[in-house]
Amino acid sequence: MATVATTVVFDQHGPPDRVLRQDQMPLKPPEDNEVEVDMLAAPINPSDINLVEGTYGIKPDLPAVAGLEGVGRVTKVGPAVTSLAVSDWVIPASTGKAFGTWRTAAVCAAEDLLKVRSDAPVEYAATVAVNPCTAYRMLEDFAHLEEGDVVVQNGATSMVGLAVIQLARERGLHSVNIIRDRPNFEEKAAELKALGASVVLTEERAQSPEGKQAMKGFPPAKLGLNCVGGSAATAVTKLLGTGATLVTYGGMSMKPVTISTSYFIFKDITCKGFWVSRWAQEHSAEERSKMIDYLLGLARDKKLTFNFEKTPFTDFDFALKKALGKEGFTAGKQLLVFK
Ligand SMILES: NC(=O)c1ccc[n+]([C@@H]2O[C@H](COP(=O)([O-])OP(=O)(O)OC[C@H]3O[C@@H](n4cnc5c(N)ncnc54)[C@H](OP(=O)(O)O)[C@@H]3O)[C@@H](O)[C@H]2O)c1
Repeated sequence: MATVATTVVFDQHGPPDRVLRQDQMPLKPPEDNEVEVDMLAAPINPSDINLVEGTYGIKPDLPAVAGLEGVGRVTKVGPAVTSLAVSDWVIPASTGKAFGTWRTAAVCAAEDLLKVRSDAPVEYAATVAVNPCTAYRMLEDFAHLEEGDVVVQNGATSMVGLAVIQLARERGLHSVNIIRDRPNFEEKAAELKALGASVVLTEERAQSPEGKQAMKGFPPAKLGLNCVGGSAATAVTKLLGTGATLVTYGGMSMKPVTISTSYFIFKDITCKGFWVSRWAQEHSAEERSKMIDYLLGLARDKKLTFNFEKTPFTDFDFALKKALGKEGFTAGKQLLVFK
């Protein structure tokens, strides 16, 4: 019997709570090199919001199914498929191609999917490709970091930030973490420290003498990570050592990154950007698989943990509202679950 998928689609760019709508999509049985997949779980990431708004680095043909990442289970395979089998767990082969994961099922070419290990919890397989991979690459690719070295980041409560803290801990690095002030700051700071954060500061404290004081006893920070922009980027830069690199990978405050001239001249700071989709395009599928395998192994061993707020796909509007920050600070990554 042909499957009819329920999807969340957009016909035009705009605010997600205005332009996204539910739709039904009949699926043809998979032919030759195609497979059918039942989605298991998919997150709502800032990049998904930006894709719908039309501010992301790629623009799909419209109408498009929303959702850039997620994990599904193969249910049917076409006669010519050799790389995948029924029951395999798969994720989109590229996060730069707008697969459209916010749907109950899909039929697509087998080459559009990457098989992942299924011994880690499903929520980790659904979310490994964007945020943990970004954290991993930024710690690997921008500075020669050795045990005892220091990385400074803002947006430390984000999924990328939490991954940075835990991957830094695994490598014996110190992380100095800047977060937005909040009524329960001490509680949040304790949570991050339990994951391995060495220091947690509000943006204001990071820019005050307390920031410099907090860096005493550590070697000069070689790497700064910025996903906020504006004064939160300045706060990171202030705590960097001479010759350090500042990597910008997000712009949550929607404010530009401004670096004081003196940091370029007297601290010789290098500023770079990072986009995980570009990294994936420029590296082999084997290299990406190896990284994903490592990260899911950490998740299976509970060395990489995140909080998820799971919502059935049928309550999509509720999960979207939370992801848009319309319900205040959230307790974790919004995750759509399909069964
Ligand atoms: N370049 C890449 O390849 C790449 C890959 C992955 C992610 N990203 C980017 O990384 C960032 C984090 O993504 P994520 O999925 O890890 O985030 P997330 O888990 O959804 O968390 C959102 C984060 O943004 C913070 N935030 C929200 N609104 C803010 C504002 N107005 N000012 C300052 N901070 C704000 C939140 O802080 P509170 O706890 O204070 O609310 C929280 O830390 C996003 O910008 C995303 O686009 C980029």
